[in-house]
Amino acid sequence: MKPFIFHKEQKMIKLSDRLQKIADLIQQGETVADIGTDHGFLPMALWESGVSPHVILSDINAGPLEKARVNIDKYFPKTEFDVRLGSGLSAIQPGEVAAVVIAGMGGQLICEILGEDLDKTRTFQRMILQPRNGQDKLRAWLLLNGFHIYDESLVREGKYLCEIIAVSPGNTENSLGNTEMDLEVSPVLFEKQDPLLVEFIENKIRIEKKILEAVKNGVGKDKYKKLEETEHRIKLLEELRKRSLA
Ligand SMILES: C[S@@+](CC[C@H](N)C(=O)[O-])C[C@H]1O[C@@H](n2cnc3c(N)ncnc32)[C@H](O)[C@@H]1O
Repeated sequence: MKPFIFHKEQKMIKLSDRLQKIADLIQQGETVADIGTDHGFLPMALWESGVSPHVILSDINAGPLEKARVNIDKYFPKTEFDVRLGSGLSAIQPGEVAAVVIAGMGGQLICEILGEDLDKTRTFQRMILQPRNGQDKLRAWLLLNGFHIYDESLVREGKYLCEIIAVSPGNTENSLGNTEMDLEVSPVLFEKQDPLLVEFIENKIRIEKKILEAVKNGVGKDKYKKLEETEHRIKLLEELRKRSLA
């Protein structure tokens, strides 16, 4: 990479709260690959702030990478960034970076990317994952495949609360899997007393109550089974809500 020349008129990249929370999980001096980078702001900011000496911007689609290139030209016209077209972790070599970020994708897709070559996935020291949905499935996959969830946090983005999951390879003890709701409401959020935890659980209760109303008004042979299941989930979530307030 060419050395960066600082210009007085240089615009500093201001990350969204979600991307900043992810950036905060990268340690000083760590090299980073941002898989599915799209606009490329996260790796550019990590490099600009001096946290990461080398960043890789990778995406499966040419369109998003073009967007990243436009942003590079706008913010760092004199700097050459490592931009790569490719699917998932195939864009990087085993152990090529210390940290991998996969953010803003569905949980199922993240599982597929991580599972494509497990030996390779285990060569990175940490991975910061931010699934848009299917968070429970991703946590189950991580547990099953021997990844340690060492940190989790919630961050507001518009009307959503995003879940950020930080993992490292190795079978260090996970505190997940002890109760029925652990995969959906991570015990790590309780341990950390995440400030958005109560709101996160209350959102889930609100959704379940809407489902309950819809089931009550509906017909079908599974109606009573579904009613029972939904009432059970609301009960478990109410218990979690109480715990989060204690
Ligand atoms: C919603 S954007 C997220 C952008 C950014 N990571 C963020 O969190 O703001 C998802 C990006 O992932 C890319 N993508 C989807 N599947 C991918 C894959 N298998 N490998 C690499 N990139 C992928 C898409 O092209 C898109 O640019």
